[in-house]
Amino acid sequence: MILTRAFRNNRSFKPTRTFKSSAVLKTPIPSPFTHAPSAPNAKGRLPGGRVIGNEAALQHAQGKREATRDIFNEFSLEGKCTVVSGGAGGLGLEIAQSLCEAGANVHVFDMAASPNTTFKAVQDYVSALGSRLIYHQIDVSDQKAVFALCDKIGEEEGGINGAVCAAAILETYDCSDYPSEAFERIMRINAGGVLYTSQGVARQMKKYKQTGSIAMIASMSGSITNRDQHWVGYNSAKSAVLQMARSMAAELGPDDIRVNCISPGHFSTNMTEAVFAQNPGLKEKWESGSPMQRLGIHHELRGAAVWLLSSASSFVQGSDVKVSGGYETW
Ligand SMILES: NC(=O)c1ccc[n+]([C@@H]2O[C@H](COP(=O)([O-])OP(=O)(O)OC[C@H]3O[C@@H](n4cnc5c(N)ncnc54)[C@H](O)[C@@H]3O)[C@@H](O)[C@H]2O)c1
Repeated sequence: MILTRAFRNNRSFKPTRTFKSSAVLKTPIPSPFTHAPSAPNAKGRLPGGRVIGNEAALQHAQGKREATRDIFNEFSLEGKCTVVSGGAGGLGLEIAQSLCEAGANVHVFDMAASPNTTFKAVQDYVSALGSRLIYHQIDVSDQKAVFALCDKIGEEEGGINGAVCAAAILETYDCSDYPSEAFERIMRINAGGVLYTSQGVARQMKKYKQTGSIAMIASMSGSITNRDQHWVGYNSAKSAVLQMARSMAAELGPDDIRVNCISPGHFSTNMTEAVFAQNPGLKEKWESGSPMQRLGIHHELRGAAVWLLSSASSFVQGSDVKVSGGYETW
């Protein structure tokens, strides 16, 4: 409506289509260390103050600015410090790389003595882009150790702006015989580890008065039961993660700290390959049981992770983003 009026008032008005790639590069990146304004006058502004969307179009109509592809800048994690737990390989390492490609420096928390062979290649790759990928061997179910490491990283990096909590284990036991030690272990790692990593990071966000975003990797197994799989411990822990995200989102929202979940469907990773090895034909069953007739590919979580950690999802709070190929739609 308003744009039409601008056209009417100024007959010589010609919208400039500045679609050179340099337009994106020239656009100032909002400071990652500015507290995101939640006030109503923040309409059409990225954290850091850059005007976007309809507000930018209005400024353009008044000849005050060039047209730019700011939507891509909304996904930028330039200069942000993030943590990815469970990033020694698998989905976590893919996510870690995607955050680095978006401009972040990533600290990986994983209990593996050393990361997998791809890790070094990813480290070199993101270093060529100007990002750092740092490995820390740590058990995320050790709250004290996680807090101490987050304190150290916060001090060195001037805060922590985001986290993806992906560390988890998967074990199979019949529900009637599930040993208590095994149940306690899976809850301690898959639910406790996510809580402690999120707490450790949130404490730094508060300490350095920074806006932040935490994405917990839950699973569709937190909302449905995988047919024929005896995973009551895993499924219960993933349900706990879904509720943990909602609870933390409610508590941390006033501090401009966002907490959400990503729930992957079936992906082929070390975790699921171990299940396939025990269950011949299961991979094909999962593939045919999906509307898309296939498993997810590692890189298919990249977009969801970067979106949730960036300003592009600035009003997404307490949500669960399902990336499952529609497996649980029927
Ligand atoms: N692969 C799938 O189909 C699938 C589906 C839904 C959800 N998920 C979830 O995605 C995440 C990544 O899984 P993946 O498939 O890449 O599995 P993966 O086994 O390749 O990765 C899990 C990582 O977590 C680490 N880890 C385990 N316990 C830890 C602990 N106590 N402290 C620190 N690190 C620990 C492991 O060393 C490993 O590197 C998990 O949360 C998993 O539950 C996977």
